Amino acid sequence: MGKDVIIACDFASAQATYDFLDKFTEEKPFVKIGMELFYAAGPEIVKEIKKRGHKIFLDLKLHDIPNTVKKSMAVLSSLDVDICNLHAGGGIDMMKGALEGLTRPDGTRPLLIAVTMLTSLDQDRITNQLLIKEPITDVVMKYASNAKQAGLDGVVCSPLEAGKVHDICGRDFFTVTPGIRFADGDVGDQQRVTTPAKAKEIGSDYIVVGRPITAAEDPVAAYRRCVSEFVD
Ligand code: C5P
Repeated sequence: MGKDVIIACDFASAQATYDFLDKFTEEKPFVKIGMELFYAAGPEIVKEIKKRGHKIFLDLKLHDIPNTVKKSMAVLSSLDVDICNLHAGGGIDMMKGALEGLTRPDGTRPLLIAVTMLTSLDQDRITNQLLIKEPITDVVMKYASNAKQAGLDGVVCSPLEAGKVHDICGRDFFTVTPGIRFADGDVGDQQRVTTPAKAKEIGSDYIVVGRPITAAEDPVAAYRRCVSEFVD
């Protein structure tokens, strides 16, 4: 699994996304398309960005009964994206159904990763709202091992959890980690952040970086800085 920087293209329209990507004349960054952009611009934007030569992480976080997720994943697989995801909270049968749906007739499929616990949830919320009494780290690790047991390729998690996920699920089970900020940058609404260099040290395989690149005065320079801290 090669390390890479994934840019979170959290734009409200297809045009804003193309304007942003047009700034990259020398490299073709791996991009993440999330719910906002997919709901606004539809599958066409996935096809267009793929045609431009980018790898795509389609971050739609599916969570439904196994049959519905299986059939929906089959549709996403036909878009030829590189990584898809779902919520591990849907259970092992749902994750297995997703894998079946993603697998194309020729046996190939996009990588599939699970969101363990959203980083917007903390111990107080999972205890008092979801009535989950275990420590949040134990829940994250259990959900990661469920994902591994179902045959998934990895998880989305906090960079601070990436090392422990690898200890429990193995080095080849990959970790995709948002919550990245430069040492001298704004933290914004993220609670627990690390720098690209620190994420590399802890063992993240992919970092997802949004505003530190998309809102930078020079996005291409900010992207290159991420790559040089995290990959090189
Ligand atoms: O702008 P920023 O770097 O904070 O963007 C991070 C991206 O990663 C956003 O698209 C956000 O939705 C996503 N993400 C996250 N935390 C999670 C899961 C996804 O920040 N636990």
